[in-house]
Amino acid sequence: MKSIARSRVAGLMERERESFRQRHARSGRLAEDAKRSLLFGVPMNWMTRWPGDHPVYVDRAEGARFWDVDGNEFIDFCLGDTGGMAGHAPPVAVEAIARQARKGITLMLPTADAAWVGDELARRFGVPYWQFTLSATDANRCAIRWARAITGRPKIVVHNGCYHGSVDETVAALEDGRTVARKGNIGKPVPLDETTRVVEINDLAGLEAALRDREVAACLFEPALTNIGIVLPDPGYHEAARALCTKYGTLLIIDETHTISAGPGGCTKAWGLDPDMVTIGKTLGAGIASGAYGMTERVRELVYTRTDTRNTDVGGIGGTLAGNALSLAAMRATLGEVMTDQAFDRMIALGERFERGVRSVIESRQLPWHVVRLGCRVEYLFRPDVARNGEEAAAGQDEMLDPYIHLYLLNRGILMTPFHNMALMSPATTADDVDRHTEVFAGMADELVGA
Ligand SMILES: Cc1ncc(COP(=O)(O)O)c(C=O)c1O
Repeated sequence: MKSIARSRVAGLMERERESFRQRHARSGRLAEDAKRSLLFGVPMNWMTRWPGDHPVYVDRAEGARFWDVDGNEFIDFCLGDTGGMAGHAPPVAVEAIARQARKGITLMLPTADAAWVGDELARRFGVPYWQFTLSATDANRCAIRWARAITGRPKIVVHNGCYHGSVDETVAALEDGRTVARKGNIGKPVPLDETTRVVEINDLAGLEAALRDREVAACLFEPALTNIGIVLPDPGYHEAARALCTKYGTLLIIDETHTISAGPGGCTKAWGLDPDMVTIGKTLGAGIASGAYGMTERVRELVYTRTDTRNTDVGGIGGTLAGNALSLAAMRATLGEVMTDQAFDRMIALGERFERGVRSVIESRQLPWHVVRLGCRVEYLFRPDVARNGEEAAAGQDEMLDPYIHLYLLNRGILMTPFHNMALMSPATTADDVDRHTEVFAGMADELVGA
């Protein structure tokens, strides 16, 4: 395998930074202006993490493309880190959203769309009872609270390298066998080992050890890790994890927010998983704030017997705008007419094409990297073999190559998901978009190895 000279990357990065400055003068001025009134100069703190001197300011977006304020055009494989997975501004969803906005946005009363969406989520994920939130974070927060209420147990288990949003209990990591706050955890309310146990995905012995004392209310798992590169489960892992949850009376919550890339019903449907609860957000409403969590009949019964219905408004599961009319109308249109079963067939075929393209470049240039795919989500990692857990995947991230590749692609009109090298296909993505990525990726690889 070829090695990559680090000194070479530093020089190439400087060239890309200069090119970024030249291509983004207007964005640069807007970024300067924003420092007057915005913390860190951005509307949300993680927006500082893009490569280049400042974020690119967007003018408009449509389908799988967007245009910035300097007039540059981009193929968008980031898709708002899944929030825009339905493609930007899909006309049928935009129409439904506009129609509902004219009829009223939020009332604290249900509209007819709610039960339609509940039925559709039940069809897709196989759990029959649903509630709505405005984010995946909140869906996870609610699911964890119900799990604690039902089981009377204090703790949860998550996978090392997971991300489930800004849920306090989940911003944890495994360090020398101990659960600690994840690096960068801002203002944790209590030490993480009071609320959480972290285990590696694919470590069944570790999982059993975490569950054995029956202190754990729920395991909150993504079916495959998607936030530290993609880490797939070993064959049989989920069946065994399910059996352990059943054995120790722990609920199994499956977070499908990203793994919906595996198909219309996520990995739950595609792999025949058997969760007690399912959570999801981001893509449901074509970008309009929306999230949902669902549960089995058995969990619903327990919820009903444990709920103090006179005090539900202050019970810790809430959100004034949750389940609002606009959010539900957006979900109905998006699930019903954009993110359809047929759309997933096309998107997954494009994911396969993307994976083939990247693999051919890695193999032909003998790069010490690999590519992994989960349906229409594809990721390349900087280690030769597939990572089997969060620790191995973290070791495949590269603080020098990661930003370099992002910036190289950005300067050539391709946007990847930040923080790692992930690409997502939308219903509007085309084979030409995918092939353009392969071409640019090949050019980047040739420069890196000095071909
Ligand atoms: C698997 C998973 N769950 C939940 C979330 C939280 O989503 P949000 O920030 O939209 O609440 C994320 C965000 O990246 C995620 O990847």
